[in-house]
Amino acid sequence: MTMKKESYWYNTHIASFPPISKDMQADVTIVGGGISGITTAYLLAKENINVVLIEADQLISGTTGHTTAKITAQHGLIYDELIQHFGKEKAKQYYTAQVQALQQIKKLINEHQISCDFSEEDAYIYTNDDNYVSKLKSEANAYQELDIPGSLVTHMPLDIPMKLGLKMDKQAQFHPVKYLASLVNELSKNNNIRIFEQSPATDIQNSESDQPIVITKQGNVIQSRHVVIASHFPFYDMKGLYFARMYPERSHLIAAKTKQKYPGGMYISAEQPIRSVRATNSHDDQEIWLFGGERYRTGHAKQQKEAFHKLEAFANQHVVIDTFINQWAAQDLTTTDKVPYIGKLCKSTPNVYIATGYRKWGMTNGAIAAQLITDDILNKQNPMSDLFSPQRFHSDPDIKKLISMNATTAKHLIASKLAIPMNKIDELKANQATTILAGINKIGVYRDEASDLHAIDTTCTHMGCEVTWNGNEQTWDCPCHGSRFSVTGEVLEGPATKPLNPYDTSELEDH
Ligand code: FES
Repeated sequence: MTMKKESYWYNTHIASFPPISKDMQADVTIVGGGISGITTAYLLAKENINVVLIEADQLISGTTGHTTAKITAQHGLIYDELIQHFGKEKAKQYYTAQVQALQQIKKLINEHQISCDFSEEDAYIYTNDDNYVSKLKSEANAYQELDIPGSLVTHMPLDIPMKLGLKMDKQAQFHPVKYLASLVNELSKNNNIRIFEQSPATDIQNSESDQPIVITKQGNVIQSRHVVIASHFPFYDMKGLYFARMYPERSHLIAAKTKQKYPGGMYISAEQPIRSVRATNSHDDQEIWLFGGERYRTGHAKQQKEAFHKLEAFANQHVVIDTFINQWAAQDLTTTDKVPYIGKLCKSTPNVYIATGYRKWGMTNGAIAAQLITDDILNKQNPMSDLFSPQRFHSDPDIKKLISMNATTAKHLIASKLAIPMNKIDELKANQATTILAGINKIGVYRDEASDLHAIDTTCTHMGCEVTWNGNEQTWDCPCHGSRFSVTGEVLEGPATKPLNPYDTSELEDH
């Protein structure tokens, strides 16, 4: 069996929808067809709100379709840190919001009899590093303080080396695409919902009546009372606030058939390199194990090298593997204080909402976003809204993190502009890429299987950083804010909305 270079979850039929082809009006326009956008559309439609949902590519093709799909409140080591930075009350709110999200997902599964391999599992965070043993103990104290059911453990059902573990009881997991494909089927039966795929949003403007208008790449406009940006990295960032307040990372996953029985549970290491393990059942009822980790800042090509091989080595070391069947990667965004931004974009655009910065925990945070935004649109008070408000700012940890994140971005911008590539393309093998200097331009050159060259200007069309080659996934990635482009320059992931400029390969002969 050959290894598929796509997410294991794409073994499910998802209904398809046409691109937008005319101007429209709605109560709410939702941009983005992942868990946040689809769940928000579902909740609003139940309240008889008229919704247009547009997706740049296909529904569920972004991070939602690439996740480990753990539905858990155990988000690494977080609760001790939240108590330190926000206080006990807000830390407890964060936990409660995650639990409510899990219950909301469970309720929808029951209500619509969705068959999506949902199972209740204990979640474990474990360490093999002496420095993390005390951190795990502090986290266990935070669990006690916040009444989170769980305990320290010295053994786990999964037999992998560990010095100490921390269990959170009764969390869950599912098949995210089966779940959302069923919700999409429900949406398609509802006259209040219109869905369009291959319809990227490029801008938001204000109408004469002060209602926001979403402009699509096709040139069609959608006027509505509210706009929800659920497109992962907000494509619309009036004051550049969010580019400076989040950083993108890629993490990698492999799926395998094994020769041993999965013992139950969901696992993640506390320290780097992150190792995450869970299992699911295939359509023919075979167990599939998922191994995740190797997390790097997007665009840091050197660190990303060999990410999948390292995961395979981990799997082979601890489990008797039959075959590796899928490999893929996901993009995650982290905010300065690790809590997502969910709510109004900014004070001057009160009708525009964003939902982003979920770190690796999009299943619960996506469901939270849908509920918070729906409540706000319906003018219902939600006690969690302040905690997630994008307009919050805490001097600690925000300032420290802002400085370090933006120093990294600035360093990349300057270093990449100053670096002079000395590479030659005649040494380039199939499926390899390099950056060369053509006159004063830096050009990224990729040689495909048929030995044809594809060349692009490496200047990112978002804010001008230099993209770097990601050999794991054969893409050009931007280290500044995480935009990603295909070998021919098309946008795969925002915030960029324009493709990289192509370069005429006939001009490459002298290099
Ligand atoms: Fe912002 Fe490339 S993503 S400069």
